[in-house]
Amino acid sequence: MNFNICVLKGDGIGPEIVDEALKALDKVGEKFGHTFNYDERLIGGAAIDEFGVPLPQETIDACKASDSVLLGAVGGPKWDHIEPSTNRPERGLLGIRKELNLFANLRPAKLWAPLADACPLKPERLGDGLDLVVCRELVGDVYFGKKWRDEAGAGHDDMNYSTPEVERIARVAFDMARKRRGKVTSIDKANVLETSRVWRETVQRIAAEYPDVETDYLYVDNGAMQLVLNPSQFDVILTGNLFGDILSDEASCITGSVGMLPSASLSDTKLGMYEPIHGSAPDIAGQNIANPIATILSAAMMLRYSFDLAEEADAIENAVASVLEAGHRTGDIAKAGEKKLTCTEMGDLICAAI
Ligand code: NAD
Ligand code: IPM
Ligand code: MN
Repeated sequence: MNFNICVLKGDGIGPEIVDEALKALDKVGEKFGHTFNYDERLIGGAAIDEFGVPLPQETIDACKASDSVLLGAVGGPKWDHIEPSTNRPERGLLGIRKELNLFANLRPAKLWAPLADACPLKPERLGDGLDLVVCRELVGDVYFGKKWRDEAGAGHDDMNYSTPEVERIARVAFDMARKRRGKVTSIDKANVLETSRVWRETVQRIAAEYPDVETDYLYVDNGAMQLVLNPSQFDVILTGNLFGDILSDEASCITGSVGMLPSASLSDTKLGMYEPIHGSAPDIAGQNIANPIATILSAAMMLRYSFDLAEEADAIENAVASVLEAGHRTGDIAKAGEKKLTCTEMGDLICAAI
């Protein structure tokens, strides 16, 4: 089959890690008889440099015309002081999420067995290990509320959630829990925030439609603590945009590195966007040392969710497992004193294992 992928490499390590994911897709295409066509467009700082804006219309149009989007990362110190803030690279990313109505951001965090020693938690804390999905609402919350500075110079960010916005993401989480271990933990701050009270009431109502799914409710401060005290209690974490951003980075480090965590951003159509959860890592950009696994696994999620190619997605995930089992690691997950693979070496090994 033929698939058209819009490729947004972005900034910093973005181009390096996306190149490895494209290699893996090409390998899958060769093995299973598919053709992946890539339409490369600019976003973030790269788009600011070329067009003066972080999300050019032609990038939006190309994404909408594609079967799915693969994104690296955006941002970096070069563009950190741009005014107005609506012209920052990160606004490009938020803008494309909104344009494509990608309200459901799935961030699976699992501790791959060979990386147990890279996990910062004591083994006894891990219990049955870590295998959870953060189901993060992606186009609402304080991210998209009105932002302004008043005459006194105070900054304001309006935080809001409507009932329909919570309902649709809750359904995604409950449906997913049914296919996993049957548990949803909804994380909010309902003891303080009105948005969270709407969130919790709505989740409670939707939970009643899923009596077969166990539902828990945690305040986000306790949720952050539980994640490091007893991570194996979590199956699906259902949460808002801001809390999901923070909790998914926390979950990622339990897997050894933020460089391990992929994500899928989905709407109610097949057109999704796939990206690692980490950023553009300016501290290591241009050195060919970034871990490409999060991006390669994001490509696998694209095959699974947008293209219904489960066997092909398995081929990538099994290849990652076998490369890790053989002890190959990039610097972020390497054992002290052991060889650190470059980004391209890791990509080559995964391709060979596909
Ligand atoms: P970051 O995720 O870029 O980096 C945090 C730390 O993790 C750094 O030490 C970095 O070297 C390391 N790291 C990240 N990805 C790695 C990888 N694949 N392999 C090895 N190490 C990796 O977060 P930050 O430093 O807070 O942000 C840098 C820039 O990225 C900012 O401009 C921020 O806004 C942006 N950002 C973009 C996205 C995105 O595009 N989705 C996500 C987060 C941050
Ligand atoms: C992420 C990032 C983005 C977010 C930023 C860069 C806008 O941190 O994808 O996790 O906060 O959603
Ligand atoms: Mn983030």
